[in-house]
Amino acid sequence: MSLTVALSKGKLLAGSEALFRRVGLPFPEGEGRRLVVEMDGLRFLFVKDMDVPTYVEYGVADCGVAGRDVLLEMASDVYEPLDLGFGRCRLVVARPRGGPDPLGASTVRVATKYPRVASAHFLARGQSVEVVKLAGSVELAPGLGLADCIVDVVETGRTLEENGLETVEEVASSSARLIVNRASYHARRADVAKLLESLAP
Ligand code: PRP
Repeated sequence: MSLTVALSKGKLLAGSEALFRRVGLPFPEGEGRRLVVEMDGLRFLFVKDMDVPTYVEYGVADCGVAGRDVLLEMASDVYEPLDLGFGRCRLVVARPRGGPDPLGASTVRVATKYPRVASAHFLARGQSVEVVKLAGSVELAPGLGLADCIVDVVETGRTLEENGLETVEEVASSSARLIVNRASYHARRADVAKLLESLAP
């Protein structure tokens, strides 16, 4: 097998490593800081989670592991042939516990790492929305007056809980997906098929 695989350095890394090892695929050892590692015919790129679809769309990587949350936000033109079954979480709207309902307001200010998803969600509800794009720690924003609510991923719910927020509604559910570059899917059919077969649940 000779493929380049883009992996997230974030929350999906542990699940990706566990899956690759379980099915007998190579995976780099340890907590190194090298961002490109070659091993047994596979070349691994370790990138920010939001960048995985970009590396795959542009063909720098043949495939990658990305959360559905990230795929919804990036809307990249890639194949998404496999739900890998780990990294389950939900994208939600959350507000200060017991605070005013942001869904009732005619206009809402929302802090998020997911501007596209958040805009589309509120616009579909017929609410005008002002999106404040943040790079992380978005749970801080409502309490400090930066936004009325947030759109963010919730896994255990601890971060919401510990920052005085509660879920108002679910926007989407998410899990880790294998994504494949459209050209690689055809040009490297045999290797891609072998990888898909190995990783299929
Ligand atoms: C994500 C997300 C929440 C948290 C949710 O952040 O943005 O902050 O995880 O997990 P929980 O429901 O289990 O508490 P991440 O760790 O990716 O860090 P970031 O906020 O810096 O992006």
